[in-house]
Amino acid sequence: MSKEQVVIVTGASGGFGSAIALKFAKHRAKLVLTGRNAEKLSSVADSCRSAGSSSVVIVQADLKQRDQLENVINECVKAFGCVDVLVNNAGVFIPQTFEKATDYEFDEMFAVNVKAPFFLMQHAMPYLLKTKGSVVNISSYLHPSPELLMVSRMSRGALDQLTINAASKYASEGVRVNSVRPATALTELTLAAPEDVLNYEKSKQPIGGFIAHENVANAVYFLASSEAAQTTGQFLNVDGGASVLST
Ligand SMILES: NC(=O)c1ccc[n+]([C@@H]2O[C@H](COP(=O)([O-])OP(=O)(O)OC[C@H]3O[C@@H](n4cnc5c(N)ncnc54)[C@H](OP(=O)(O)O)[C@@H]3O)[C@@H](O)[C@H]2O)c1
Repeated sequence: MSKEQVVIVTGASGGFGSAIALKFAKHRAKLVLTGRNAEKLSSVADSCRSAGSSSVVIVQADLKQRDQLENVINECVKAFGCVDVLVNNAGVFIPQTFEKATDYEFDEMFAVNVKAPFFLMQHAMPYLLKTKGSVVNISSYLHPSPELLMVSRMSRGALDQLTINAASKYASEGVRVNSVRPATALTELTLAAPEDVLNYEKSKQPIGGFIAHENVANAVYFLASSEAAQTTGQFLNVDGGASVLST
């Protein structure tokens, strides 16, 4: 990237989020890191500074709180005067069967995985229009999955519709919206799933092993970069070949 990008990473305290932040940091981006866990955010911020980021701002936020979404964008503009890239990475996964799923579980997953990216994007859009910036949403590889993943995958389907529809709306105005779809990686999020589910998911990834956090970060970085200047509304699977196997 030619100039220092101003990049917001949600869920920067987590597995993929910290790897994504670090990747941009190595390319000297100015970063806004969000999450709820202040200690983890602080440690990721230190790593980003060491890796080369010229400036890192932490915005502690619960993305289920509607007013905090606008605040994340406002804090970025206050610190850096613009937004170049919004990475909607924060997410929750609560394993549950179809029969036992509760309102709480359903609302929790849709609040963080769908509603937060929608309104973050809405608040960021006036600034993205000025910079001709881009959004990268972290979705999920969507092959038919164990029942315990049903509501989580439904929320990812909704997020993918946001990617396509926003990409279509803003393409002619120079704002790109893309998505990275990882298959299963080992992070705190997936440790909520039973071991047999994780092993089943891993067995569907023919390249072998769980997905490396860095490979997800590389895909995000590429889609946000000028190397992908004519790419919008696309889904980049980082899935160890799972999508090839299932077609
Ligand atoms: N790991 C996988 O196999 C996999 C596969 C496909 C897609 N994904 C997606 O990848 C993204 C990153 O997940 P991960 O695997 O890296 O999991 P992770 O390590 O558990 O990270 C999740 C992140 O989301 C943040 N978050 C959750 N609820 C939040 C809330 N209410 N407000 C603010 N931040 C919140 C967490 O921050 P705090 O804890 O600080 O609040 C954390 O930084 C998620 O969207 C996930 O669905 C993961």
